[in-house]
Amino acid sequence: MGAQIAQQAALEGIEVRLHDTSDEQLRKAEDSNRGHVRRRVEKGRLAREDAEAALARVHATTDLAEAARDADVVIEAVFEDLGVKRSIFAELDHLAPAGAVLASNSSTIGISKIADATSRPQQCVNMHFFYPVLVMDLVEVVRGPQTSDETVDRAMRLAREMGRTPVLLNKEIDGFIVNRILHAATQEAYRLLDAGVAGFEDIDTAVEKGLNWPMGPFRLGDFSGLDVTYNARLHMFKSTGDERYRPSPQLEAKVKSGKLGRKTGEGWYRY
Ligand SMILES: NC(=O)c1ccc[n+]([C@@H]2O[C@H](COP(=O)([O-])OP(=O)(O)OC[C@H]3O[C@@H](n4cnc5c(N)ncnc54)[C@H](O)[C@@H]3O)[C@@H](O)[C@H]2O)c1
Repeated sequence: MGAQIAQQAALEGIEVRLHDTSDEQLRKAEDSNRGHVRRRVEKGRLAREDAEAALARVHATTDLAEAARDADVVIEAVFEDLGVKRSIFAELDHLAPAGAVLASNSSTIGISKIADATSRPQQCVNMHFFYPVLVMDLVEVVRGPQTSDETVDRAMRLAREMGRTPVLLNKEIDGFIVNRILHAATQEAYRLLDAGVAGFEDIDTAVEKGLNWPMGPFRLGDFSGLDVTYNARLHMFKSTGDERYRPSPQLEAKVKSGKLGRKTGEGWYRY
């Protein structure tokens, strides 16, 4: 996510520093970005000079101090672990300019759980991008109880400058907007499957042809990883205690048998 967030900004003319803990991760990020950008050139959608300029605008470094030193906005996209995020925010608070906005790309952790690790909670905000960032247009900007109007404006403006469409959530809520609606639809799909109403392929076909969604819930689950779907449901179930969120036994069986979707060659479908 971090690699593509950086590249998307650079494609729109913004100078970016991309930080990770190892040179190897940074090399992987650069290789992957170069592949994406060059494919656009091959397809005639981007001029070669513009592609090279966009790649050159991403400056990779393992030194967080160097990465943060001149930043207007920092977008954190480390592992989904509250402790890791809090310690990074505490470090960034010392390393980034006093006026910089500190944003988190977390899918599940609201900024209020991280912002108090800094001395500038009013400048902290969620900017939730979607995978793959180079393709998906949306950014959910979520304000915490202490986020200032100015910070919200800057996050919304940056998303637009990055060529993305931002939406604003005025309150922190589990799953934000998109994952909440996706979870509700996915939950219903699993209920229909578990009740024997229809097979997964027919449920996917119904959703794809009847609602015009590009992928039904089972195909999408295979695409994102069934472990991701399972863990998201388990998180909702544990945090709310609501039986409606209990993961489907058929989903659990897939995950326990290591059939996680495309990445393992089999999930609901075979690849
Ligand atoms: N994968 C998705 O579809 C998706 C979508 C939206 C948001 N997110 C969010 O983005 C974040 C990252 O997800 P991802 O899928 O890119 O994870 P990932 O595991 O692919 O990448 C995480 C990166 O963070 C680096 N990292 C870990 N600790 C670090 C530290 N202390 N300092 C610097 N770098 C560190 C790792 O080396 C790795 O390159 C998570 O918060 C996740 O919720 C993910």
